Amino acid sequence: MEFPKLRPRRLRLKENIRSLVRETVITLDDLIYPIFVRYGENIVEEVPSMPGVFRYSVDKVADAVKEVRDLGIKAVILFGIPEHKDEVGSDTWSNEGIIQRALRVIKKEVPEMYVITDVCFCEYTTHGHCGVLKGDTVDNDLTLENLKKQAVSHAENGADMLAPSGMMDGMVRAIRSALDEAGYTHIPIMAYSAKFASAFYGPFREAAESAPAFGDRRSYQMDPANAREALKEVILDVTEGADIVMVKPALAYLDIIYRVRQMTLLPVCAYNVSGEYSLIKAAGKMGWVDERKVMWEVLTSIKRAGADMIITYFAKEVAQDIIKGRLPY
Ligand code: PBG
Repeated sequence: MEFPKLRPRRLRLKENIRSLVRETVITLDDLIYPIFVRYGENIVEEVPSMPGVFRYSVDKVADAVKEVRDLGIKAVILFGIPEHKDEVGSDTWSNEGIIQRALRVIKKEVPEMYVITDVCFCEYTTHGHCGVLKGDTVDNDLTLENLKKQAVSHAENGADMLAPSGMMDGMVRAIRSALDEAGYTHIPIMAYSAKFASAFYGPFREAAESAPAFGDRRSYQMDPANAREALKEVILDVTEGADIVMVKPALAYLDIIYRVRQMTLLPVCAYNVSGEYSLIKAAGKMGWVDERKVMWEVLTSIKRAGADMIITYFAKEVAQDIIKGRLPY
């Protein structure tokens, strides 16, 4: 009988040796929690398609951020749902805009939290597209002018970092120069560089009331079939002055995360989007998968592919498991 000479199983026999050789570990430092802020007062409402995720009115948002802080999470990204939408999304650069009001409250009550803002228009326009329309398409360069106003207004109201997500050409350069001219040279930009036109955003669009009123986003978000083009988008954003680049969604795009990580020296963020969250929640609820284990496996795969940080609706659950030492490995 032939015996194997090489036995990788030696390093898998017990948890103590498995943890010594484990290559990928998720820590609290890796997590960014998305928060939806909405108009109105005294509102904490669960998003129907995203169990465990809530929309908060401005008077409730500080409590939500404190809960996140108390779990050891250090960064949040804000999305706003304004009371009034218009053709251009002017709420995004108003001092009384939903994000501006939320920023002031959070920075006053939880100053240590690192607050990132999503810089876009789809939640703020009546037509639900990510910029100014000309005919039935988004006009790139008119949109850049409004993006500059939005970016400076977020910085003025206390944002720590800006995350433009509209996939407009030249958006990073436009925002960088607007910030610099306004004296915000210290505010970094995390660019949604490779953002795909994905059906995985479905639950988010319900949560943020941001579904396009007509058509879709394929004239600005990327074709899911393209990987080289994603690398091109990353190169452009790096050239334009991005500090961090992002790949979004994450799970169906692990190859993109991996290739971006190989290509650039910048930190890479991955967005584990709403549909990725809801699928796991739904299957868990049905009893078809072990939700916690699948959550850990998916997030570990995103980190293993090369993400330095992950935006995820699971952040609070991950943090609870980390705090309690309940890792499912
Ligand atoms: C655009 C934006 C979207 C998401 C983040 N920023 C929606 C879209 O592009 O349609 C989706 C995030 C998610 O699905 O969790 N403001």
